[in-house]
Amino acid sequence: MDTDTAPPLRMLFGRWRFWLAMLAFVVILAGVLFGYDQGVISGALGGITATFNLSTFMQEVVTSWVTLGALVGALIAGGMADKYGRTRTLVIAGVLFALGAVLQSVAQGTGVLIAGRFVVGFGVGVASVAAPLYAAEMAPTATRGRFVSTYQLAITIGILLADIVDAVLSSSGQWRLMLGLSIVPGVLLVFVVLMMPESPRWLVKVGRRDEAKASLAKTQGGADVGGRIDAIERDASSTTQAAWKDVFMPAIRKALWVGVGLAVFQQITGINAVIYYSDEIFKFAGFTTPQQQTRATLIAIGLVNVLATFIAVAWVDRFGRRPLLLAGLIGMTTGLVAIGASFLFLDKNPSSGGGTSMVGVVTLVAMIVYIASFAFSLGPVVWTMINEIFPNQVRGKAVAFCTAINWGAAFLVSASFLSLVDAIGEATTFLLFAVACVVAFVWVWRRVPETKGKSLEEIEQAWTEHEAAQAAPRTLPVG
Ligand code: BGC
Repeated sequence: MDTDTAPPLRMLFGRWRFWLAMLAFVVILAGVLFGYDQGVISGALGGITATFNLSTFMQEVVTSWVTLGALVGALIAGGMADKYGRTRTLVIAGVLFALGAVLQSVAQGTGVLIAGRFVVGFGVGVASVAAPLYAAEMAPTATRGRFVSTYQLAITIGILLADIVDAVLSSSGQWRLMLGLSIVPGVLLVFVVLMMPESPRWLVKVGRRDEAKASLAKTQGGADVGGRIDAIERDASSTTQAAWKDVFMPAIRKALWVGVGLAVFQQITGINAVIYYSDEIFKFAGFTTPQQQTRATLIAIGLVNVLATFIAVAWVDRFGRRPLLLAGLIGMTTGLVAIGASFLFLDKNPSSGGGTSMVGVVTLVAMIVYIASFAFSLGPVVWTMINEIFPNQVRGKAVAFCTAINWGAAFLVSASFLSLVDAIGEATTFLLFAVACVVAFVWVWRRVPETKGKSLEEIEQAWTEHEAAQAAPRTLPVG
């Protein structure tokens, strides 16, 4: 669409603001889809299990194949975005979301259902790399950082929306509608992205200078568009696109370990076990009806997650990354130990009159503590740091690698959670996540540097100096 077709907005905010708002809308849609497709399964799983008479293993497959698809999607998204352009890649992601939603909602057997889960996950993985990349390239420098936190906030809003849909539809058990509804934001994403101009940086990279100029003039306007395109061109020719092997070279290794560690710890401390299986967990804890379970999920998980993410967005630049991570891990450990202990020691049966059991009450409070602690720390801080610790040349691929590792870890946890509960019990499973939090705490304390208030170049410099001090000087290949 040309801006001319949107006169009221344009008149209200000016052309520049209009495109920035549209860009924010793309990022929000991608994040909401990510969150919705992750969150919705908690309410849908009961109905799916009843329809197809699923074993524990098959419940895990149905739940976790979204993350498997996302792992593959994240790995190839960078290449797709380079080859076909940022907007076309996002359109493909939107089509995949919609297609996957249709497949899931019409599935007459588990094969089609699982295929649908994988396709949706693939879209999630592609969008999780392409949307922040597109935003970073399109946004003016001053607002760039805010898009990472906006994305995380959008993920939590997506999870909340899924929890609301689950709560509304839980009594009728309409899992097909729950899963099918994500077609709406999927189609919306396709249409919105089709209106958006391509990233000028990508256009310059592929030698389409005139179109790059037109795109920049349209979205940011201002004086000397040609000069700015020249600057992008110089930048593009001075920074060679790294190859995959460069991501693993010794000079990057320290940053890579930090990125991979953050990605893994974000998952093995249990977040998606809680998000995907929250209704099941509340069921174990004595919330007997699906309505009670979805309502508890809506409040303790969905709402608290969104609210606490706001805290992180406000504080991440004031308090720094390390304090938030460390404080969050203490809160998460406390919540997990309380959940474990309540399963171990408290009475699971509802008190007379069918009210909620003691385990239920303690679990609810402990879940709130756990989710809030995650949402102001590991949730947003991990993504912020993964996007800032790598040198310019390898950033794209290194971020995609860490994102894929994150999905891999999410897959392992979501594919084994129910079996783990069957094998060792709820209490031990949650205590195991608590142990992972303690290990994460020690690791963050010892290994993760503070990046607050440092420019990307200063962070890059710090790694290089650290490397140089430790071993023979090694530099990144340039030019
Ligand atoms: C994680 C997701 C998680 C979400 C919960 C994100 O930072 O990467 O795996 O589901 O937070 O809010």
